[in-house]
Amino acid sequence: MANNKVLFRIQRFDPEKDEKPHHQDFEIELAPGATILKTLHQIRAEQDPTLALRYSCGSAICGSCAMKINGHAILACKTQVSECVRDGTVRVAPIGNLKILRDLVVDIEPFWESLGKVKPYLMPKGAAPDRERTQTPAQFGSIDPSTTCILCAACYSDCNALEVDPSFVGPASLAKAHRFIFDSRDAARQQRLREISQRTGVWDCTHCGECSTRCPTETKPLERIEEIRVQAMADGHHGNAGARHALGFRESVGKRGFLDENWLALRSVGFFNLPGLISLMPVGLRMMIRGKMPPLIPHTIDKVDEVKKIFARFEELRK
Ligand code: SF4
Ligand code: SF4
Ligand code: FES
Repeated sequence: MANNKVLFRIQRFDPEKDEKPHHQDFEIELAPGATILKTLHQIRAEQDPTLALRYSCGSAICGSCAMKINGHAILACKTQVSECVRDGTVRVAPIGNLKILRDLVVDIEPFWESLGKVKPYLMPKGAAPDRERTQTPAQFGSIDPSTTCILCAACYSDCNALEVDPSFVGPASLAKAHRFIFDSRDAARQQRLREISQRTGVWDCTHCGECSTRCPTETKPLERIEEIRVQAMADGHHGNAGARHALGFRESVGKRGFLDENWLALRSVGFFNLPGLISLMPVGLRMMIRGKMPPLIPHTIDKVDEVKKIFARFEELRK
């Protein structure tokens, strides 16, 4: 294959013919500076007009052209092919965590539904003013990153927590929640924080960081999730498993210098939460059968005083 030729290995799926997705290879003469989107157009024009994909603006604004390249979500119109060639090949597939409708087109409806759950609109106090509701530059600064989201669903596609639990609200929705929680013109901050602290909300994120790595804008959902958690704790929204888990982790590691996992599990569900405690029993049983149960009396660790000192320093900084 000449140097300017690239193999596009594209995942195809026709619901009328195929039982499951398969791959099709297209050899393409690469135009200088070509983006993934432009090259897919070239394939459609020169080799197969039936290839289905979603796009609109071509300028990284509308968010409709997200797809997986070499296994990770990107914006096709923003990414040059030259950045993606591995051993002469570019692997193209639809974004993940959503049902494939045809080729590279997915059913985006669950993404919109998750967004609706965080009430993605301003809930201000009082009647509308005669003129616009104003903000200072500093007030806008706190929501500036989260306003840049273009709803491309690249983060939703690659979120590991969503893959395991589709009821998790997901990174884009949490970033959208951030945009209103920290908006100086919104009057529903406490209601929003209370709702988002429940199961399937802000504490269900497992910190893998994929969302921020994949995000093509400055939204960077994981950073916004951390800001929401800090605000929820500061405003006293502790009556939920996620907050109790975070507090318990600090108490165990910070005060004792090691993680007491059995105690932390009880602390997270709540010591007096009988249904919650009962719900832990099958997990505990499975762990016991597989020999994964943490020891009832946790081991002490070397240099435990060093760990305690780090936490004491955190505590000083926090104050
Ligand atoms: S950091 Fe959290 S929200 Fe982001 S991809 Fe990972 S689990 Fe999902
Ligand atoms: S947060 Fe980033 S990756 Fe997620 S939908 Fe918004 S712009 Fe796309
Ligand atoms: S086509 Fe609009 S963001 Fe790529």
